[in-house]
Amino acid sequence: MGNTAPVRIAATADLHMRPAVAGRFRSDFLRLGTHADMLLLAGDLTDSGTEYEAELLCAELVDIAVPVIAVLGNHDHDSGCAGLVIDMLTGIGVQVLDGDSTTRTVGGHRIGIAGVMGGTGGFPAHPGDPENGTDEHRALLRRGLIDAHRLHRVLSALDTPTRIALTHFSPTTETLTGEPLSIYPGLGCVALGEAIDTASATLALHGHAHAGTEYGHTAGNVPVRNVSYPVLRRTYALYDLDPTAFEH
Ligand SMILES: [Fe+2]
Ligand SMILES: [Fe+2]
Repeated sequence: MGNTAPVRIAATADLHMRPAVAGRFRSDFLRLGTHADMLLLAGDLTDSGTEYEAELLCAELVDIAVPVIAVLGNHDHDSGCAGLVIDMLTGIGVQVLDGDSTTRTVGGHRIGIAGVMGGTGGFPAHPGDPENGTDEHRALLRRGLIDAHRLHRVLSALDTPTRIALTHFSPTTETLTGEPLSIYPGLGCVALGEAIDTASATLALHGHAHAGTEYGHTAGNVPVRNVSYPVLRRTYALYDLDPTAFEH
């Protein structure tokens, strides 16, 4: 009989680290080891992707007691040095995913996490317009589809019974409730949800929609959680996963 204790996933996003919030999350992160088995970060970890903000972020995350796995968000690319942000996070032991995956073993259960930033493109009732917007908007719109393909590929390749999709942009409109309908196309894309469904993910986590809703699901009924800090109103959310439910 294997370990039947739940796997405890802590998750957050949109910390937007900057001097005004430096130190805000540190004490909660230091206590993580008593509450969670891992911490997943769904992007916009810095406010504008600068080296200084990345230093502040690393000061929040260094030496915490659980593995930390992250994807970046659009704001982490704002200063054109996302590679440096990734290097700095990697230097303190954070694993940053971008079209790849990692497997962790908790209580004898193997948990796979696949990550991409994702992008925009909208949803059937709220489509994006590829003809309008800035170059940045058009790039994010292209990235939505590309990252959906990358997410599907890495999720499908995971051989773990439990598979978590970690993105910054949303795979569903359900967790956008509370945002203005007019900006739905910029908050995610249906292709991410299709990737999550066809790869039969166990759980999907995202950020980016600061005024959205925590709980939702994809069209294929995969649970989706919007873990944006302004939505959570707490440093991180905790989700218990029963890994035996997916092991056969
Ligand atoms: Fe954000
Ligand atoms: Fe964002």
